[in-house]
Formats: sequence, C-alpha cells, structure tokens
Amino acid sequence: MSQFLQAATKSDLKDGEKMLAEVDERLVILFQVGDDYFCIDDVCTHDGGTLSDGEHEGFEIACPRHGAKFDIRCGKALCMPATQGTVAHEVKVDGDSILVKINE
Ligand code: FES
Repeated sequence: MSQFLQAATKSDLKDGEKMLAEVDERLVILFQVGDDYFCIDDVCTHDGGTLSDGEHEGFEIACPRHGAKFDIRCGKALCMPATQGTVAHEVKVDGDSILVKINE
C-alpha cells in the first residue's frame, strides 16, 4: 500500500521552480506554484522523454524532445504529440517536509 514519503523540504524549492526527486525508487518532478506543490512522473508518454529537462511555466511543462505539454496538477496531456497523460502523485506538506504518495 502506498504511503506518503518525504520527497524534499520546503527550502529545496521556491515559487515557480521545479526539482527532480526520487520517491520509492521512482523519479518524479516536484513543482511549487505559489503556496501549492505538485508532483508528476519524470516521463513523457509520447516517447519516454525526461520532462524534468523541459521548460515549465504556471501549471504547464513542455517535453524538451518534441514539445508535448502536460498539466502539472493532474498529469493530463495538453497537446500533441502526447495523447495520454503522465502519472500525477498526491502531495502534502507537513511542517518543512514535502511528502509524496506514489500513485501506481
Ligand atoms: S518524447 Fe516527449 S514529446 Fe516526444
């Protein structure tokens, strides 16, 4: 059963930034937008590109390989060439810790 695990601390991120993290042997990207945190897999569903190398603005990240965009809040694919969403994970903050629950 999946549980919340520490992925980072609040001091690791600033508003508008993202970072790569490993949670339960899975590479994920953490984002901070305002006071909110989001987490998605570091995988583009088009052809496996590493989304953490892509540009992100607001609630969108673009794959650096062929330009597919994803909503960082839910993982939804927003444009071609990706047609399937990437996996989004639940995030919560406990004190200074950013915790992630891996969504299988
Ligand atoms: S691998 Fe991401 S758009 Fe092609």
